Amino acid sequence: MSSSTARPRRLPRTSTAETARVVTGVLVPLIARGLILRRPRITGLLEAVDVDRRAVATLEAVRRRHGAGPVRLRLPGRRIVLVLDGSDARRVLDGTPEPFTPATHEKRAALDQFEPHGVLISQGGDRPARRRLNEAALETGNPVHGHAELMTAAVAACAAELVTAARADDGVLTWDTFADAWWRLVRTVVLGGSARDDRRVTDDLAVLRRAANWGFLPRRRRTRARFLARLDRHLDSAEPGSLSAALAAQVQGEIGTSRADAVEQVPQWLFAFDAAGMATMRALALLAAHPGAAEELRVEAASRGCGPAAAFARACVQESLRLWPTTPAVLRESTRRTAWRAGPVPEGSLFVIHAPLLHRGGGHQDADRFAPHAWLDGAGPGPGPNVPFSAGPARCAGEDVVLLLTSALLARLLDQVDLTPAGPRTLAADRPLPGTLSPFGLRVRFAQRSSSAT
Ligand code: HEM
Repeated sequence: MSSSTARPRRLPRTSTAETARVVTGVLVPLIARGLILRRPRITGLLEAVDVDRRAVATLEAVRRRHGAGPVRLRLPGRRIVLVLDGSDARRVLDGTPEPFTPATHEKRAALDQFEPHGVLISQGGDRPARRRLNEAALETGNPVHGHAELMTAAVAACAAELVTAARADDGVLTWDTFADAWWRLVRTVVLGGSARDDRRVTDDLAVLRRAANWGFLPRRRRTRARFLARLDRHLDSAEPGSLSAALAAQVQGEIGTSRADAVEQVPQWLFAFDAAGMATMRALALLAAHPGAAEELRVEAASRGCGPAAAFARACVQESLRLWPTTPAVLRESTRRTAWRAGPVPEGSLFVIHAPLLHRGGGHQDADRFAPHAWLDGAGPGPGPNVPFSAGPARCAGEDVVLLLTSALLARLLDQVDLTPAGPRTLAADRPLPGTLSPFGLRVRFAQRSSSAT
């Protein structure tokens, strides 16, 4: 057949059986665990069947059958396109917000519960100023935020609390103990020391996040109003050293956003710090199972302190996030028709980038191993891309603050205690790491170090 009569290429589509496997093995588990607020019980059940390992295998089977894709999921109602190839994932993420907007229909439905003006769901002309506002307040690209002093002091207090709490619990750190101290740290860093014990603000956010798990539920308007009013007061007091003060400084500056816009960036920060806590707890479990790495981190902290020089501590957090990405599905919606080697994709399609597939797929040698060194002078293990913080113009604006705080906390803790796994779910250096690891069931044993400063 001559090229002039060739039929136009059409994106490959999954068969009915493949669609059923992707829906039940990939999409339903992502939604069931709670997209905005994790559900501990369901996350535990999904861990028991190692659901993310199965999800990667399912998507690899689709890739073997249809090629690198993208591949359209044969579903009524929503045009869903699976991105199966690393370079396609880069293209989508680099092409943000046009022609691939992060403000997908699904994300807007969910996040509208508590941050209708958040940058992640902002469209058109609203997005650039809100992005600039976030970058300016969070100092995106600067590994040591201008408020690092307050941050590291708050980290030291958090580490001391964790050590004391674990000691009172037979030397074992549980998720519940960790989370309590973690949220005190987060409120201090984001809102200031006076908010350290203001549980109301994070409890209200939890109520809104729980509702956001069901995107179509009616808005919780009273809770949202109360929550945002509290944030507004914190922004007003702009406690020196807090991220709210950094934000307030920008409101008075030249970026050109409204006060409501500024207030509504903060819910995203508080919400996203939950993921940072999970990554830290998982990193502790990894270090408990890899004493050599724990020692390396300790030696680094003793000689270089925290901050960008603490490259290995940061790498441990990055590796925890590669193994168990806290945003397992990075979503984009096309704002116009786009052309792909497999065929065109119409405007309004939902592109799904499955981070575990990129991070662990393809059978690379470090896929299921703890390999922090690969982050020291590269982009992490395997061909990647590793995208725990996304990539491109909508890459996480808080990445530097996250890595500063979490690596400092690891360093502080390891200065004081030796870690060992405490079950019931333990990781081991000589076994492949699981595809799914619920943070809620993790326990780590702390043993006081005789040489510790405290
Ligand atoms: C381990 C912790 C975190 C991880 C893994 C993470 C990851 C991500 C990812 C994957 C995105 C892109 C989402 C998408 O494209 O749909 C994102 C966006 C964002 N993150 Fe984070 N995040 C973390 C913590 C934080 C924190 C603590 C802050 C603020 C203090 C923050 C601020 C933001 C902002 C403002 C955006 C929106 C960027 C935009 O739309 O331009 N993140 N984050």
